[in-house]
Amino acid sequence: MINERLPKIFYGGDYNPDQWPEEIWDEDMRLFRLADIDIATVGVFSWSLLQPDEVTYDFSFTDKILDKLFKNGIHVCLATATAAHPAWMAKRYPDILRVDFQGRQRRFGGRHNSCPNSPTYRHFAPLMAEGLAERYSSHPSLLVWHINNEYGGTCYCENCARQFRVWLKRRYGSLDRLNEVWNTAFWGHRFYDWDEIVPPNILSEHMDENDPTRTAFQGISLDYARFNSDSLLECYKLEYEAIRKHCSDVPITTNMMGTFKPLDYFKWAPHVDVISWDSYPRYNTPMSHVALRHDLMRGLRGGQPFMLMEQTPSQQNWQPYNSLKRPGVMRLWSYQAIAHGADTVMFFQLRRSIGACEKYHGAVIEHAGHENTRVFRECANLGSELKGLGDTLLDARISSRVAILFDWDNWWAVEFSSGPSVDLKYVEQIQVYYDALYRQTISVDVVSIDTDLSGYDIVIAPVLYMVKAGAAERLESFVEEGGTFVTTFFSGLVDDNDRVVPGGYPGPLRRLLGIWAEEIDALPPEMHNSIVMKETVGSLRGQYACSLLFDLVHCETAEALAAYGADFYRGMPVLTRNTYGKGVAYYVASCPDTKFAEDFIKTICDANNIRPAVGNAPDGLEAVIRQQAGRRYLFLLNHAAEAAVVSLQGYSGRELLTNVRLDGSTQVAPRGVQIIELEETGA
Ligand code: GLA
Ligand code: ZN
Repeated sequence: MINERLPKIFYGGDYNPDQWPEEIWDEDMRLFRLADIDIATVGVFSWSLLQPDEVTYDFSFTDKILDKLFKNGIHVCLATATAAHPAWMAKRYPDILRVDFQGRQRRFGGRHNSCPNSPTYRHFAPLMAEGLAERYSSHPSLLVWHINNEYGGTCYCENCARQFRVWLKRRYGSLDRLNEVWNTAFWGHRFYDWDEIVPPNILSEHMDENDPTRTAFQGISLDYARFNSDSLLECYKLEYEAIRKHCSDVPITTNMMGTFKPLDYFKWAPHVDVISWDSYPRYNTPMSHVALRHDLMRGLRGGQPFMLMEQTPSQQNWQPYNSLKRPGVMRLWSYQAIAHGADTVMFFQLRRSIGACEKYHGAVIEHAGHENTRVFRECANLGSELKGLGDTLLDARISSRVAILFDWDNWWAVEFSSGPSVDLKYVEQIQVYYDALYRQTISVDVVSIDTDLSGYDIVIAPVLYMVKAGAAERLESFVEEGGTFVTTFFSGLVDDNDRVVPGGYPGPLRRLLGIWAEEIDALPPEMHNSIVMKETVGSLRGQYACSLLFDLVHCETAEALAAYGADFYRGMPVLTRNTYGKGVAYYVASCPDTKFAEDFIKTICDANNIRPAVGNAPDGLEAVIRQQAGRRYLFLLNHAAEAAVVSLQGYSGRELLTNVRLDGSTQVAPRGVQIIELEETGA
């Protein structure tokens, strides 16, 4: 927990005083105090300032700004500055420059631009981190280390190719094994020498400049995705270890990006002391999508609270339409992050820059330069509210009885797949079930495939296409012990290496689900089928629409609860239930409509006696409970433009932001927030 030093929700964000003359800094401090800002992330892109050449390190900027921040009561999230390499380094050591998907070697420019396997980068980046750690590990302002920034991107250079071969040797041991798992007998791809293997990009296995998922060889592309995530993680770990040489106790993070496809964050999380992430919804992003990403980030380290490292106070610059956050929305979304487990609220950025591509990105201090702006007032009001909350919510946890499995390898494999449908997108399928839970205010943990599931009553694994070694057995014992398991079409097809498990889908899940699937139909978006219930089951009755993919399923030990309503497979099972040990396993053989997802979730939650946070939540009302030391805090977040009336279901309590006592029910203003400390009324 980073909040021991100052027991409150930290409030602040990215601060780039290196873009400004020092005269401005004192004015910044005055404005920060006005807004109750108490944390600043500094130095994210300062590498070229701190290291003007190969041998000179000049920390005078960092010395000055850290002292100033400390004197003004502001804690520092200190970046290692390695997210953009200096121009002199690129000129002198071109191996630091990436080769892109098209096979072009980049020149100096942009950021997040270093080849992760460049000897130059791996030499200089940890040295910079170490230099900073040596100098500032006992600086009184230092609260948390921020390594690099938003790791991402892929490189296809010769150094990466060499390291890829090393990585493959480590993974497979022999070329025979590699030829086997990549199925290189197909299209005459057999390798006789490791050096014959080249990175998969548009010059080799890939076929579409604009769609990097279109590959001829899933095995190599999947492994390259794993290798790239691992390569960047190696860079992170080098900096982590460099910091730890001089600083044993300050937590270290790197800012993540939610459902960011290139990095397997579950593999990263054990190396990150506190998870932090950057949330940038678009003007029309559904709030349940943001909520899913918060829950995923919370799930990376078993429910440990995370840092909201970046969000914009008002608008972005890099989206097609950079709408302003309407009055109240920044506050509402900040509390949404807190509701889902954030213990900091931070912005990009504190002062708006005046040059280059982010000058039209929102900031706490706008170009006007003073406090008399809407954005500043909203930020200052939130700052004062967070100060008022003190330590009340810190480290409070969310207790969920439902888990959704999320797996990066599976994501990559599903979307590298050539067929059955270009419209099959993994996160969208996760979202189908997440949304149904969200709308019913049932909290959910988003967990990795190797999590201990015994604490959950329901586990949902949409499109579990790849069933990794050991996963089927774990799911079987979860159900045997009384759990409810749900999976969907296009599950159980392949092993860890994207090789089909022959003998009928869903391969290793066949026993648990009590079915086998013979064929998979794919239809264009305008064509549907229907899910026709055989009889009413819980809240499921009548019929629903389904689309996208349609597994043609035969029941073995399972019973069919619903059948397809049309086409040549009319009457074949589309929803099945199998009793297995003390539990049940469901298979949803097509992509259902919203109504089905909601009725289905309600049915299985009712059967497990899982109650929503609030009953009959009006549209747009999000409700989450965080709890701490026997206290329960109900967050009511009204995303709608109308007031929401909410029944407290036999509870009363004090609303923390207004200190008003509530009984029986409450009304939440449009875009309003309430945090109610619940007390049983005994009614
Ligand atoms: C990212 C980066 C920041 C900044 C913001 C702008 O999250 O980490 O440096 O570029 O985007 O939205
Ligand atoms: Zn490279």
